[in-house]
Amino acid sequence: MERYNAVARFLHWLIALLIIVNLVFGFAHEALPRDWAVMPVHKSIGLTVLALTLVRLGWRATHRAPALPGAMPGWEKGVAHATHFLFYAFMLILPLSGWIMTSPGARPLTWFFLFDVPKFAVAKDDAIVGISHEAHEILPWIWAVLILVHIGAALRHHVMLKDDVLRRML
Ligand code: HEM
Ligand code: HEM
Repeated sequence: MERYNAVARFLHWLIALLIIVNLVFGFAHEALPRDWAVMPVHKSIGLTVLALTLVRLGWRATHRAPALPGAMPGWEKGVAHATHFLFYAFMLILPLSGWIMTSPGARPLTWFFLFDVPKFAVAKDDAIVGISHEAHEILPWIWAVLILVHIGAALRHHVMLKDDVLRRML
């Protein structure tokens, strides 16, 4: 069986974990205690996802993904590839929109309180800031649903179809 190599597997699981934590922090931030510094951590995790995604896309551009099972229908392979493409787009757009929409604010942007991260030179009224805010509110809901579909598909392959799709990523 051909598997994703160690770098691809490590990046997949680390980024997946960080995204799930950030979705939960994002959706729950208003209900969580103020002194937990939820948002500075949310922002730092998001910036980490962005950096790791660039590394992952570099890996992806220079490596071939292991082949999917031959018995898998063409349309299913197409849906899988389209979903993965969309996931990479979300992995770039979500952190970037957060970064842009918080840039005009007075709060400093740091990476886990260790060092300052520069902000974009945008003003509160700029169209890009409004668009980023909208994107940051709507896209996480769509993504959360697609992530559940992605997990469901992986489990379907493993438990019902009993093929190697999930094992290729373990
Ligand atoms: C993997 C990356 C990220 C994910 C999955 C994510 C997800 C979310 C989610 C689900 C919300 C709640 C949206 C809502 O219910 O309205 C949210 C809010 C927020 N996010 Fe992110 N985020 C990410 C990255 C970032 C980054 C990099 C920043 C800033 C540098 C950021 C700043 C914010 C802020 C300030 C809010 C609160 C917005 C408000 O209450 O109006 N996020 N995020
Ligand atoms: C936030 C969560 C997740 C994100 C953003 C994500 C993202 C991705 C992406 C972009 C790929 C395509 C890899 C490539 O470039 O070829 C992929 C593949 C895969 N993921 Fe996830 N993933 C997440 C969570 C999970 C979970 C929880 C599971 C298992 C239950 C899983 C199982 C798999 C499997 C089996 C593949 C290989 C599928 C194939 O080659 O067609 N993922 N994932």
